[in-house]
Amino acid sequence: MAVDLGMAQINQLAFGYWQSQVLFAAVRTGVFDALAAEPLPAGPVGDRCGLEAGPALRLLDACVAVRLLTRSADGIYANAGHTQRLLTTGSTESVVRWARVMSRWYEPWGNVTEALRRGGSVEERALRLGDDPAYAEDFILGMHEYNARSADALARSIDQLGARTLVDVGGGAGTYSVAFCRAWDDVRCEVVDLESVVPLTRRTVEDAGFADRVTVRAGDYYRDSFGSGVDVVLLSNVLHQESPAHCLDILRRARAALVDRGRVLVHGHFLDEDRTSPVFTTLHNLSALVLWDGGRSYTTAEMAELMAQAGLTDVREFPAAEPSAKLLIGRTHEATTEGAHP
Ligand SMILES: C[S@@+](CC[C@H](N)C(=O)[O-])C[C@H]1O[C@@H](n2cnc3c(N)ncnc32)[C@H](O)[C@@H]1O
Repeated sequence: MAVDLGMAQINQLAFGYWQSQVLFAAVRTGVFDALAAEPLPAGPVGDRCGLEAGPALRLLDACVAVRLLTRSADGIYANAGHTQRLLTTGSTESVVRWARVMSRWYEPWGNVTEALRRGGSVEERALRLGDDPAYAEDFILGMHEYNARSADALARSIDQLGARTLVDVGGGAGTYSVAFCRAWDDVRCEVVDLESVVPLTRRTVEDAGFADRVTVRAGDYYRDSFGSGVDVVLLSNVLHQESPAHCLDILRRARAALVDRGRVLVHGHFLDEDRTSPVFTTLHNLSALVLWDGGRSYTTAEMAELMAQAGLTDVREFPAAEPSAKLLIGRTHEATTEGAHP
């Protein structure tokens, strides 16, 4: 049904990025870390963040307006509780790296029109995959900060994993491998990711205390084997980076790595058949355009079809823990129990 938007809603769309910039500027200048230990007036916050008093005041007041900071009657600024928890670097729940990556992605997103005209990305993927080490570290560890919040729930949502080996292709920081090990005592995982990523993965896996059950191997998913005799291959948040031809090739090698009764788990964001929902995924689709040459968001049916073409059978769709994400599971064999969860 057509919805009649008023000027207020058009304004909301047009001004939306102003609010994002308040978050990004505060993270980049270190406002929340400056206020982590104690509430302060604007002057000292500006001093710690390298900002003149006037500009500091504008940023801090805007942070109050978007509820990231509070301000007392005598002009003392403090982190809101959620800001202290999520947006300071020392917090165990910090998503500061993720926020820095989103701020970095503002640049390619700012060129979305150019990407649309060109029909391809406007930022080299190599930058975030290792050529710019600080960016690459933020990308891998930022995705970890973001996905760690729902990975345990996803791993636990599978009724009976019944797997001893899981290969996590493009596994990044090992977020999902660690989650599967935490949820399932018998499973051992191998993360396969680019050489530049391996040291970050090792560090995260060790910090989580799973170095004995999660191994890490440098590999290129465009050409390397994913092993043999594997019970489960996991492709989480990976295939939107790739064209249909590359997805098919990756899925075929995933299928080839499996035991007789194996499964491929494809986790990520998929469009509904109308391609206009979920809203987040329509934006994810544009994000894939600006960032990943050849990449795109697939509809659930398109991904299921690619999985079938790769030789997987009985492909089924399950909800995932992260809002608007899904889990597609394909097997080497027909499921024995009708309707059973993976
Ligand atoms: C969006 S991250 C997803 C990480 C993780 N699977 C997750 O869900 O949190 C995409 C991952 O694909 C990896 N990647 C990109 N190109 C690759 C390639 N050619 N071979 C192996 N991994 C690659 C990146 O290094 C990154 O870890």
